[in-house]
Amino acid sequence: MPIITIDGPSGSGKGTVARRVAERLGWHLLDSGALYRLVAYTGQSQGGAPTDEPRFARIAANLDVRFGTDVRGGEQIWLDGREVSRAIRTEQAGEGASQVAAMPSVRAALVDRQLAFATPPGLVADGRDMGTVIFPAAELKIFLTASAEERARRRYKQLKDKGLSANLAALSQEIAERDRRDMNRAVAPLKPADDAVIVDSTSMTIDEVVARVLELTAAAFPAK
Ligand code: C5P
Repeated sequence: MPIITIDGPSGSGKGTVARRVAERLGWHLLDSGALYRLVAYTGQSQGGAPTDEPRFARIAANLDVRFGTDVRGGEQIWLDGREVSRAIRTEQAGEGASQVAAMPSVRAALVDRQLAFATPPGLVADGRDMGTVIFPAAELKIFLTASAEERARRRYKQLKDKGLSANLAALSQEIAERDRRDMNRAVAPLKPADDAVIVDSTSMTIDEVVARVLELTAAAFPAK
């Protein structure tokens, strides 16, 4: 089963790149960040303490989620039969995701669900620990990064394009805080796998990054 992992910090362009690469190859896509967002979003909707790990672990174990694609190739996510694709993209859900993602029992509860995405003809897995923890045997591992300023600018544009409200200064701060939490947590911290190819997209367009990943794919899987 050929697997490409794309890990990196928030706003590095991973999500868009992983989706386009999966489309071009005709492979499955795992958006693992969406799972953490869904856990946080469910917990936030229910109310209750944001630090109650057993509660979030139960939510993670019982997520009733379905992933699909809309007519334009965009991501569609249903939670308990309700479309939540936009609802989980808010900064509030992202911030909550980064908090629940630091809880070991939440991460453990999501492992099998992520492994199940690895089915033929192949998988592109997007996240923070795809190459280091979930798919350590993946043939091609990419660590996609960009400067913090550029990532904040991209996030701002992405939110505005979706019609969501955004503030650049606040986003920069949130991104710095999220990086700090993701890189310093005890379980599955954000870091490149030893055998990852680092791609710095600060001054690259999305098309250029996709082309670079497809080039690396052709080298890693000569038969594809
Ligand atoms: O990629 P996205 O912004 O949707 O991820 C939201 C949060 O989920 C990240 O900030 C990170 O804390 C967490 N996450 C993770 N491991 C993954 C994917 C996401 O810890 N594989």
